[in-house]
Amino acid sequence: MFRTLDQADVKGKRVLVRVDLNVPVEDGKVADTTRIERVAPTIREIADKGGKVILLSHFGRPKGFDRKDSLKPFAPAIADVLARPVAFAEDCIGEKAAAAVNAMKAGDILCLENTRFHKGEEKNDPAFVAALAALGDIFVNDAFSVAHRAHASVEGLGRKLPTYAGRTMQDELEALTKVLETPTRPLAAIVGGAKVSTKLDLLGNLLAKVDILVIGGGMANTFVAALGHPVGKSLCEHDLLPTAREIMAKAKSRGREIVLPVDAVAAKAFAANAPSRVVALDGVGADEMILDIGPRSIEHVCSVLARVRTLVWNGPFGAFELEPFDTGTVEVAEAAAELTSAGRLITVAGGGDTVAALNAAGVTERFTYVSTAGGAFLEWLEGKALPGVEVLKVR
Ligand code: 3PG
Ligand code: MG
Repeated sequence: MFRTLDQADVKGKRVLVRVDLNVPVEDGKVADTTRIERVAPTIREIADKGGKVILLSHFGRPKGFDRKDSLKPFAPAIADVLARPVAFAEDCIGEKAAAAVNAMKAGDILCLENTRFHKGEEKNDPAFVAALAALGDIFVNDAFSVAHRAHASVEGLGRKLPTYAGRTMQDELEALTKVLETPTRPLAAIVGGAKVSTKLDLLGNLLAKVDILVIGGGMANTFVAALGHPVGKSLCEHDLLPTAREIMAKAKSRGREIVLPVDAVAAKAFAANAPSRVVALDGVGADEMILDIGPRSIEHVCSVLARVRTLVWNGPFGAFELEPFDTGTVEVAEAAAELTSAGRLITVAGGGDTVAALNAAGVTERFTYVSTAGGAFLEWLEGKALPGVEVLKVR
């Protein structure tokens, strides 16, 4: 379906490699190197095969040049991860970039400045695409997490140069395609997060594909309220109760199972360690809010995991950033990780909050695949075509 590095002849070539360096930076230092670690195998492989690795990335959402969004601090961070020198050029096109590229030898690594310093990047402007393309012979995209953006360094370049998926992109596409297109069934999805309104497309697409849909997080309150239970001061989209009922009716008519919480942990304040109690679904007080699923819900979700073979997970159950309201997420994550280790469950997860929650639960390494993508993972779950993936398809 798409070309990989197996088909690329990189020896002696200038290889433009799109990575996603859009990661947290604190006090001018890269604070989370996960995305860098993920692309390291692709960079090493190209360099070891004698290619000249030219890294392209955006960072932040600058409007034109902005020193605080410079990729300069990333060159040493990437060098640390790779244990190899990484040069930096103060622009991603034009004379400065060309001079840096011309100075490269086989196996060298160069990081170019933030592509979003030029307006042409987000506009996918042909002149900017051409200026980038002039620096390389081939294009490798290893940044699934930005594949939902039809930007020059993601999409435009892919149409201009011979294009290949990097190893991380390849792994990601293989894992994600397998899980929704040809899953080992039964297939369950856990969808959490605050709002139903932001996940309507996702719920619609997933209902067509999964056998069991587990709804958690703040959005579960909307469903619980739609069933006529009191939700007190909980996060709840009261205007979406009819929509929630429609989703439940659709699931029923299609023979899909929707799993909702059967009990809750409720508190009067949205704060870490706020006094809380476990309540049955009809027992939430008018002055209380639901901050997590209760022990019977945890047990129920774990029993679902024990009878499915594949799980796709997006969105935490409770207010996972506040202890102890991370309990539901952590315990379900533990159960999923254990089943995965035992070879009984395939687990694929993604989304910013989800990854943070799974990292905090310490299960990421044991899951089958955890995507570092946020928006791209969501759009993929919605069944949308991602421009950065479409352009990789063999034409
Ligand atoms: C991300 O971190 O989600 C990607 O790098 C995309 O960034 P963007 O939302 O600013 O386009
Ligand atoms: Mg984003």
